[in-house]
Amino acid sequence: MIILSIETSCDETAVSLISATGDFPNASYEILGDALWSQIDVHAEYGGVFPSLAKREHARTIVPMLQQAIKDSELETHKNQVLTSDLEQQIVTLLEREPDLANTLLGFVKETGLPEIDLIAVTSGPGLEPALWVGVNFARAIALLSNTPVVSVNHMEGHILASVFDVERDDMLSEIKFPAISLLISGGHTELVLMKNWGEYEKIGQTRDDAVGEAYDKVARLLGIPYPGGPEVARLANEARQKNFSQFADLPSPMINSNDLDFSFSGLKTAVRYAVADKDLSHYDKAGLCRDFEDAVTAVLVKKTAQAIAEHSAQTLIVGGGVSANQHIKRTLEAFLLREFPEVTAYFPAPGLSTDNSIMIALSGHARATSAIAPAATDIIRADGNRSLT
Ligand code: KG4
Ligand code: ZN
Repeated sequence: MIILSIETSCDETAVSLISATGDFPNASYEILGDALWSQIDVHAEYGGVFPSLAKREHARTIVPMLQQAIKDSELETHKNQVLTSDLEQQIVTLLEREPDLANTLLGFVKETGLPEIDLIAVTSGPGLEPALWVGVNFARAIALLSNTPVVSVNHMEGHILASVFDVERDDMLSEIKFPAISLLISGGHTELVLMKNWGEYEKIGQTRDDAVGEAYDKVARLLGIPYPGGPEVARLANEARQKNFSQFADLPSPMINSNDLDFSFSGLKTAVRYAVADKDLSHYDKAGLCRDFEDAVTAVLVKKTAQAIAEHSAQTLIVGGGVSANQHIKRTLEAFLLREFPEVTAYFPAPGLSTDNSIMIALSGHARATSAIAPAATDIIRADGNRSLT
């Protein structure tokens, strides 16, 4: 089956065309087209993602992303499609909050046309609700235009699948042993999820305030590093580690000794703010501070993950979300597992699949459409900024 997938939950506008053969999780996938537009530069001056701006950028770039994905896929399209005025009116009504988008999409469909697709998968949450609505309404418009079912995807399930997916191998998704623990660490989320099977999730721990990626970005901002500063903080931390820069600050690992599986990062961010207040920091100071911060974060992530694995006798650890690209966190977790839980297999996303993308949305849509995982409703899909993983 050919899946068209759409992701607009935060600051990436992404559209993919994926071919799936077989049912989830025993399927093989081929990425036919994958287009992604990052809005990072648009939000950088605000130091974070600005929801109404994100929505406007999604509406502006989603047709070009669709066009790019179709072009890359080399799939044949139904050119010069004649649309009834009734259908055109339905599309205009559906996209009335983004009037330019309706015109651009109708123009594109009439001129270039859509390929034959079997399923549309779209992120419906969690995320920024105005941003999510653009993708959801766009998916519903394409569903009308192509007479194709649309399935709603939970963004966090997408991150979990992205971490296990390997385009070179067909058996990755089917080899997962349960129970599994997922550690989801991104700009918006920090949570530990117990998976008894694909689609059977129980949130067993979460942050009480900031997400770990958010803490990275806030520390970056204190150091004058533009949004999203996570990768640059990580780069400086690595430099300090390699060159053995001295400790800059003695930072706490909040809640490391609480007996539950919850996290808190706002105290750590505040400790960083006090440590840098009124100081003129040298490059060594900044790099040392980044390392101290990253060590404090890593210690608490490792401790809570270990506790979750032990409490639930997990056989698998799946780490996903933007922060799972962090090499220090990855190496430390892997070394720890090897020492303490050698029977546990750990999965981290392939490069390019840790941050938001639409390949992961296609995988989750395919899972929901073809397996025992409870299918998501395909009638009227709504954006839900707080959608939880169930
Ligand atoms: O999953 P994602 O793309 O978006 C959300 O759903 O939030 O995650 C983005 C987050 C940002 O906070 C970014 O700074 C962080 O992931 N990030 C990193 C690294 N790469 C991305 N944080 C630490 N180290 C990295 N290498
Ligand atoms: Zn994400």
